[in-house]
Amino acid sequence: MKIGLLYGTETGNSELLCDDIIDKIGDDYECSIANLGETNPSDLDPQIFYIFVTSTYGNGDLPSGAAEFYDKLESQKTDLRGLRFAIFGLGDMVFEYTFAQGSEKLMELLKASNAKMVGERGIHDASCGEMPEDVGLPWLDGILSEIALELA
Ligand SMILES: Cc1cc2nc3c(=O)[nH]c(=O)nc-3n(C[C@H](O)[C@H](O)[C@H](O)COP(=O)(O)O)c2cc1C
Repeated sequence: MKIGLLYGTETGNSELLCDDIIDKIGDDYECSIANLGETNPSDLDPQIFYIFVTSTYGNGDLPSGAAEFYDKLESQKTDLRGLRFAIFGLGDMVFEYTFAQGSEKLMELLKASNAKMVGERGIHDASCGEMPEDVGLPWLDGILSEIALELA
């Protein structure tokens, strides 16, 4: 199985988590990594399992690159039928009313575009005292187990 990591970031945490994911599973799976800002929804390949990792900025918004991807997906109305994905959001509970809303918005649009979500959305709270990888890598184990069950 090929895994495509797509990140949306302002200060690099989401990209670093994707790097950690590749360090963990890169020997077992063929992985690619790209910024959502440089990704066109119509280029997504159903042969690849995508893991979206994005933070939240502004007032519950996506980082600028991820927002470009979101706007393209919404305006082009790309049909993502056949595509499978998981999503992990980074946020901070200091922003209580908009906590991790960027990843939530992207998740909802991907589902509305007919992509199939595997597992639950993972979430990291920057105020929780743990690093994103402390939460993200165990979450990834759960996602990979779900995929293995599907393939069994
Ligand atoms: C100016 C600013 C606005 C933010 N707004 C939100 C927000 O509305 N909701 C939220 O959950 N986190 C918010 N955050 C927290 C970031 O999402 C969090 O720090 C995340 O780890 C950053 O990841 P990144 O480096 O990949 O962008 C904000 C951070 C900054 C600096």
